[in-house]
Amino acid sequence: MEHCNRGLFFALEGIDGSGKSTQLQLLKENLEKAGRPCITTCEPTGGPMGRLLRQVLTGQVRCDSRVVAPLFVADRLDHLLSEESGICKTLEEGISVLTDRYYFSSYAYQSVDLPLEWVIQANRPCADILRPTATIFIDLSPELALERIARNRESTELFETRDRLTRTREQYFRAFEALKEEERVIILPGDKGVEDLARDIFEAVRPLL
Ligand code: TYD
Repeated sequence: MEHCNRGLFFALEGIDGSGKSTQLQLLKENLEKAGRPCITTCEPTGGPMGRLLRQVLTGQVRCDSRVVAPLFVADRLDHLLSEESGICKTLEEGISVLTDRYYFSSYAYQSVDLPLEWVIQANRPCADILRPTATIFIDLSPELALERIARNRESTELFETRDRLTRTREQYFRAFEALKEEERVIILPGDKGVEDLARDIFEAVRPLL
């Protein structure tokens, strides 16, 4: 089995509206100031499987949840192993990688329809190749996340969205509990200002540099 871990690998996680993408950029800036060159990336990827997944997520393509979960795994393996730009290759070049979502997103979102243990097992090949140096979970209440989402969109189905955000947050915490022996997860409150949260994240990862 191939392993890779020269650069550092951080995964940012959170429910929709938690502010991950902003923090990803700020963490990159802070790491680079500390002498760690980085790239940022995300899942689903922009590759062929990621594009198919986006069609599934928007409802253009319909398929069973038992098909969707392995598609996320395939996209993730390609993200790791792609010869031109895979995460493993980047890390081997000594560049750190920050990803907006990794397998904890599958544990949280796909376990709404499938048993959590099933989803964890399906992602085992990814965990065997590369576990994050740390997973950073930005914890925002579903109410605040919804306010942020509503601010950026014309219409939101409020109840449906609130339920979904609440369920996803609960599933994240179930997964953190299930994997607490194997994974390093840093949970930080996301209701602070952008700059304060960026500082908290950097303080939490600094001992790992
Ligand atoms: P998101 O980060 O919200 O991207 P964007 O806002 O750019 O569309 O991710 C898209 C959705 O994909 C999000 O609702 C969660 C879902 N997702 C899963 O269900 N499982 C996964 O493994 C991943 C990576 C994402």
